[in-house]
Amino acid sequence: MSHSQPRSVVLGTGSELPSKVLTNSALEQLVDTSDEWITVRTGIKVRRILEDGKGSADMAYHASLRAMEDAGVEARDLQAIIVGTVTPDYPFPSSACVLEHMLGARDVFSFDVNAACSGFLNALAVADAFIRTGKIRSALVVGSDALSRLLNWQDRATCILFGDGAGAVVLGASEDDGRGVLSTRLRTDGSYAKTLYVPAGGSLKPASIQSVQRNEHTITMNGKEVFKVAVRSMEEISREALSDAGVSIDQVSLVIPHQANRRIITALADRLGLPLEKVVVNVDKYGNTSAASVPVALDEARRQGRIQPGDIVLLNAFGAGFAWGAAVIRF
Ligand code: ACO
Repeated sequence: MSHSQPRSVVLGTGSELPSKVLTNSALEQLVDTSDEWITVRTGIKVRRILEDGKGSADMAYHASLRAMEDAGVEARDLQAIIVGTVTPDYPFPSSACVLEHMLGARDVFSFDVNAACSGFLNALAVADAFIRTGKIRSALVVGSDALSRLLNWQDRATCILFGDGAGAVVLGASEDDGRGVLSTRLRTDGSYAKTLYVPAGGSLKPASIQSVQRNEHTITMNGKEVFKVAVRSMEEISREALSDAGVSIDQVSLVIPHQANRRIITALADRLGLPLEKVVVNVDKYGNTSAASVPVALDEARRQGRIQPGDIVLLNAFGAGFAWGAAVIRF
């Protein structure tokens, strides 16, 4: 038996996308926009919208069940549940606690992390750290968001970008040296807090009739600024995570970037010197699903056979905070 430090291995993945589809042409009926503008500027064609009466924990539940089935793991086997979300069912308790109860998990600790579009990467890094230190040997890591709930459907600059969804990964500890999460890197820069944020609904500006009338519970964004910093930061942190892992860019089989905008993804691939065939793009089908985007794309890539044993996969994300991160995993 090896005495090396345990690593986190991906045992299974799952995802859930709501069935309701919102097309660009349907958005043409709501705001002054066009299918052509949205397609050219963002690459998005359709997105999914969570039905009324459901919260993001419901999507997290279905994604988790699929990941657990894929992993051959039962709820009672889980030791931690960490959910990346900025759209929990309630201000409190956490969506992770809601999910824990839905799954029927026991003897587990659960919490949410709030890192917007980087929520999954942050959750993964935290779970990985618990596993590496030997505190736990299994974790369910989820990214689940329903940003449709935070959109101003009269603001054409934001309402066209986002969609709802959830993705989940089951991690297990392994002493097999070759496989697993090789490195994670996280970063934030709070000076950009108001470049992309929801002004009201927190303790500073609680819900009031005025805040609702002024649409302050919806996403406010300087898109151009986000774009610029996103590309630069994701390139930088990807290179750092690869260097930590001792992996060169040409050893990477597949990159799974946050799906915000096709132009951000192609600019990133360009800067990393990677052909687009090595980069997962599904933003056309789902829009920006925030914390769900990376685990949904990871799940799809695995199910399409795009990830084989031994492959090295680079994940990266960027979002409000600003918060960004990257991870390198050998499957
Ligand atoms: N339909 C038609 N016209 C529009 C729309 C729309 N939906 N939205 C904006 N416009 C107009 C603008 O009003 C502007 O008109 P003007 O020139 O008459 O003033 C024109 O189109 C150009 O607008 P810009 O904002 O300069 O367009 P840009 O090329 O920057 O694209 C976009 C905007 C798509 C938002 C881009 O900046 C972007 O993707 N930024 C990243 C934002 C993002 O992804 N945020 C998500 C969270 S963070 C993350 O996940 C990375």
